[in-house]
Amino acid sequence: MAIWNLGSINIDMVYALPHMPAPGETLAATTLDQGLGGKGANMSVAGARAGAHVCHIGAVGPEGKWCVDRLMEYGVDTRHILQSESATGHAIIAVDPSGENQIILYPGANQALSEAQIGQALSSANAGDILVMQNETNMQAEAARMGRDLGLRVAYAAAPFDAAAVQAVLPYIDLLFLNEVEAAQLQQATGKAPEDLGIADVVVTLGAKGARHFDGRTGQVADIPAQKVTPVDTTGAGDTFTGYVLAALDRGMPMAQAMAQASRAGALMVTRHGAADVIPDLKEVQDAKF
Ligand code: RIB
Repeated sequence: MAIWNLGSINIDMVYALPHMPAPGETLAATTLDQGLGGKGANMSVAGARAGAHVCHIGAVGPEGKWCVDRLMEYGVDTRHILQSESATGHAIIAVDPSGENQIILYPGANQALSEAQIGQALSSANAGDILVMQNETNMQAEAARMGRDLGLRVAYAAAPFDAAAVQAVLPYIDLLFLNEVEAAQLQQATGKAPEDLGIADVVVTLGAKGARHFDGRTGQVADIPAQKVTPVDTTGAGDTFTGYVLAALDRGMPMAQAMAQASRAGALMVTRHGAADVIPDLKEVQDAKF
């Protein structure tokens, strides 16, 4: 089986700051690092590191070839990443000493995808494969509809949160990933709790409190505890969790086990600086002592 990821690819510029800047404040960073990121790329790398065959569908600009090379080095199938005339997406990430972040995004090539590109990629997909999207590319609803028509298991990570974007894919998705804040925002927009929207599986991450799974078929709710770690950088931890859950489901693991493994991967991730470049592999996740 395979995971098809319609996902963003960003160049992350990470600035370590003594504190988050206040409106109007000028603040010097103590360090600057550049790396591979984007919620899509992070999920693809996490899925590949967790042992899945991940086909990334996306685009970079003329200066983004290194991002594609790096995805390939990390085990991602990059045949469906196109080169666009738009600049590669990038993210300006401020990280404070507690590991909390603030992100400014420039979408660039991530918004230059076409329905034809997605159709061509998904023509190689098989029923039962997973299709995942996040809210950093265009063509989400079109892809979700195609995925549903092809018999794929369609997953959506509602980040960065936009109520209209989630509502556009709701009719087609089988699996929804949200954090606590996004779950509350979605409830406000729809008037229904996420678990009452008729989705087969809803996963809500709860930060240091772990994660919760709502099984839309049985109505069962399961809580997965979090590992205790001292965070230095939370960037990409949620994406790592999602990629690990999907890779485990793709291998046929039950949801509770998939989430428990993903929670260990996410916990390791917050102890590292960076995004796609530092996502742990399955052995590190299994061997980690918390
Ligand atoms: O979720 C973390 C990611 O958000 C970063 O890698 C950045 O590129 C933004 O997309």
